[in-house]
Order: sequence, then structure tokens, then C-alpha cells
Amino acid sequence: MNTVEIKKGIYWVGAIDWNIRDFHGYKTPYGTTYNAYLVVDEKIALIDTVKRPFKDEFLARVKEIVDLDKIDYLVVNHVEMDHSGSFPIVAGMLPNATILATEEGREELQKHFGTTNDITVVDDGDSISLGSKTLQFIKTPMLHWPDSMMSYLVEDHVVFSSDAFGQHIASSERFNDEVDPSTLYHVAGDYYANILWLYSPLISRLIERVQSMGIEIDVIAPDHGVIWRDDPMQIVTWYAKWASGTASDRVVIAYDTMWNSTEKMAKAIAEGIQSEGVAVRLMRLRDTEKSYVITEMLESKGVLVGSPTLNNGMYPLVGGFLTYMKGLRPKKKKGAAFGSYGWGGGACAAIEEMLQDSGIDVVREPLELKWVPTNEELASCEEYGREFARSLKE
Ligand code: FEO
Repeated sequence: MNTVEIKKGIYWVGAIDWNIRDFHGYKTPYGTTYNAYLVVDEKIALIDTVKRPFKDEFLARVKEIVDLDKIDYLVVNHVEMDHSGSFPIVAGMLPNATILATEEGREELQKHFGTTNDITVVDDGDSISLGSKTLQFIKTPMLHWPDSMMSYLVEDHVVFSSDAFGQHIASSERFNDEVDPSTLYHVAGDYYANILWLYSPLISRLIERVQSMGIEIDVIAPDHGVIWRDDPMQIVTWYAKWASGTASDRVVIAYDTMWNSTEKMAKAIAEGIQSEGVAVRLMRLRDTEKSYVITEMLESKGVLVGSPTLNNGMYPLVGGFLTYMKGLRPKKKKGAAFGSYGWGGGACAAIEEMLQDSGIDVVREPLELKWVPTNEELASCEEYGREFARSLKE
């Protein structure tokens, strides 16, 4: 089993999940990793475990470096099962380890696993000495669960950042300088948009707090994907941008269609948007995973959502997408609704309500057309697109 030394005495001992394509409903086309770390000093600390099916791979890596009975601490940075699934088994194999978690982590471990292990609660700012190295804990509640914390190796300037700064990508490479930068930017953005977008205000505050603490950071070691060692603050800069809602003059048109009328409208609207020099991306929801649409939205100022009317409302597929989007609370977006209907409308009003509930600034009245759009009506769709594109620049 390959282990990787990040810095002297600091090892990656995680597992690679090459084949996962659905991470609790969020599509992961590149797979992922469950990262865990081992810090070997006078005392030895194991930071996080892995998803349960990967425990043997993980334990083999740990045992290549140390005997399990030599481990003094098991640090639980985060209780979600992709990191703690093998916790009950691993904890039972570490006879001399003190288990460390936040108060919320202790409660969650008991609720998830009925664990009877003694768990030592650590609070924000607490630290333990491993000898020449000090491990300090920074509570980061809701990044990604109430229990979440980061661990900072003070002398080595290494942050074990848990879910934050991760990416769902499986690779044999362990460090950011070994992977194509544009691929990394995409997978990091995809991860942010689909997992952390909702918590943007917390991320902004965390970045400000870490900056005010003045801590040095040489390495950011997240629980998924590659480890940031080459210019590690680049991912922090990306997070600051995404958390602020900064986006480009781009529009995502997410829609579905029954007999192509709504699709004709979508394409005509796109023509109008393009004619204003604004980039546009059509994404038909029947053929596109909702998480890919969300990723596309992250750096786009505008979102238009279209649906034919079905039984006085929107298509269920469009409703599912909007429910997912609403939960993520996309910041600083402008939007509007469009769609076709036969004898009675309803889809556009339902879409508009969901857009507003999502915090999106609805800048145009819905565009709703009866039956198949005529050439004149398609021209009005193009004009609608032009107006919408211009509204992005206001
Ligand atoms: Fe990677 Fe919130 O678990």
C-alpha cells in the first residue's frame, strides 16, 4: 500500500474510491478519496478514518507506518460516515488511543454508532502536544456538520481542513501540483457549489478569522481529493470568491420540454442573450444532472428556468431541480421563468415562486406562451433574452 509523506512525520493514509458516481444524490463523475492522516512524533495521532468499505485499505496504510497499539490519539474532525464509517472498528483496534472530538462530535458518534468509547471533548483553540509538534483544534461548525473542526499542526503549518477545501476526484496523485490546474478548479468549484454553497457566510467568516489569527499555512490537507502544498492559499482565494457571490456575465438556462415548444423558447432566448455578448449555457434537465447545473451556476450571474405546464404546474423534474437549488441558497443571482402551456398555465408562476424562495432576484416577468410559438413569438423570446442579458449589467 502506498503511503505518502506530506512533511517529515506527517503521512496520508486514506483510501481512493475510484468508482463512486453518486455521493448521497450528488454526482461524482471523477470518484473521490477519503483522506486520513497520521502524525508521528513522540506521540502518534491518527486524524480521521474512512468510509467503512475502505477500512482495510486504510488500516494497511497505517500499519505500514506504525503498529496500531502505538497510536496515542484518534482525532475525529468530522462524523459524517464517509470519514467515520470505520470509526467503531478502528477505535476498537487502538487500545492505547484517546479519542478526541468536539462536544457535537461526541454526541453524533454516540447517536450514529452507539459507541461506548470514552471520548475526550476538545473545544475551539484547545491543543495537545505530540512532543515536538502541537496539534491545535479550530471548531468549524456546519462546515460541514455541527461537529466539524479542523486540526492545525502548529510547527509544521499544516491544516487538516476536513471537508473544507476538498474536491471529489480520485487520482493516484496526492498533491495539487501533480494535477491539471483547470481540472482542479472545476472539481473544487463543483464540490463547493453542491456541498458548501449554502454555508458561504460561514466560509467568509472562517477565512476572515484565520487571517486575523495570523497563522502560517504551508499545506492544506482536506478530507477529499488532493492536498494543497503548492500555493495552498489559492484554494482559499477561490473559496473567498465563491463565498462572495462574484460571478461573470453568463446565463444558465435550465429547462425541460414536452413537445419542444419550451425548448424552442429556450433556444430563442439564448440567441437573444448571445446577441448582447453574454455567454449562455442551455441545460435540458432530462439529460443533465442537477448537480452539473448547480456547478455551472456558481460563476454565472443569471439563471433562467423553463418548463411546460403539466397539470397546472411545472414538470416534476424541474421542481426537483428547484428544490435542490433552493437548499443551496445561490447568492447574488438574477433570474426569471419561461415556458409554454396549452389550455391553462401555471408552470411559470410556480417556478417564479421557487426562484424567489431561493433568494434569486427575479428581474423579469415570466414569459409564458400558448401552444407552439409562432415566428413572431420566437422573436419576442429573443427580445426577452436581450433584455435579460442587459439586466445582468445593471
Ligand atoms: Fe466528507 Fe461531510 O463528509
